[in-house]
Amino acid sequence: MKHILITGAAGAIGSTLRTGLRGCYPLLRLSDVNTMAAAGPGEELAPADLRDCAAVKAAMAGIDCVVHLGGIPREAPWPAILEANIIGTYNLFEAARECGVKRVIFASSNHAVGFHRSSRTIGIDVEPRPDSRYGVSKVYGEALGRLYADKHGISVACLRIGSFREQPADIRQLSTWISRRDMVQLVRCCIDAPEYRYLVLYGVSNNSRARWTNPHAARIGYMPQDNAEDYAAALANRTATGAAAEFHGGSFCDIELTNKINNID
Ligand SMILES: NC(=O)c1ccc[n+]([C@@H]2O[C@H](COP(=O)([O-])OP(=O)(O)OC[C@H]3O[C@@H](n4cnc5c(N)ncnc54)[C@H](O)[C@@H]3O)[C@@H](O)[C@H]2O)c1
Repeated sequence: MKHILITGAAGAIGSTLRTGLRGCYPLLRLSDVNTMAAAGPGEELAPADLRDCAAVKAAMAGIDCVVHLGGIPREAPWPAILEANIIGTYNLFEAARECGVKRVIFASSNHAVGFHRSSRTIGIDVEPRPDSRYGVSKVYGEALGRLYADKHGISVACLRIGSFREQPADIRQLSTWISRRDMVQLVRCCIDAPEYRYLVLYGVSNNSRARWTNPHAARIGYMPQDNAEDYAAALANRTATGAAAEFHGGSFCDIELTNKINNID
């Protein structure tokens, strides 16, 4: 994998990867709908709106591996999710197929499985239980990845990212946090690992309170360096109530909730 495209390159994770992957590959092509800093050595800019098939395809010419981060990273009204995450991710995989891209790393989310009870540890094979329209778009992205892996032989890794932050901000994030350097390492492992067809991984640091089992992470050599527990003492009173306390998805489960928590198994 020599020629890498990052979508959503102007965003929080994209900017971290831009710095962290600098010099690791002969070409890092950076794409976003927002303004990006000027290209440095080994970089190219390819501004593109994911809703625009032709622009996405143009950005992908000559690329071996795409790291797809672009889109809406939170709950939002349906039209916004539809355009950026549903149509945008379709355009991304379709362009990858047309351009002969070998591998796509898709930024999925823990919110694809957010309505599983947090009292239960979950693995990569639990049923989808999205906690939001945003979570639905990530279930859909994982399904698209499976389709393009099976039907077109593209190698696909779906990263169910937990909480990417400078440091964990509440009790839940003591389980879900991923540090900047662990995120860079995880994406590098996904890019560099030899042949795989379809993987689902949780994007988390080496957290003592982890509630997700992550067998594919070890298989591709991911060895996280950071542990959210180092911040635990300062977060003792940052607890949650209601659905946010009951489910893996945290506060996303409370958004627009009209059901009773006890009705959710
Ligand atoms: N940050 C986290 O904790 C976290 C957790 C789980 C999943 N994720 C996923 O990781 C990815 C990156 O997250 P982030 O925190 O860096 O978000 P971010 O909002 O900082 O970055 C997303 C980028 O996507 C771009 N974008 C949005 N719509 C676009 C469009 N139509 N065309 C082209 N670009 C568009 C934005 O301009 C932005 O720069 C997202 O897909 C998000 O769902 C993030």
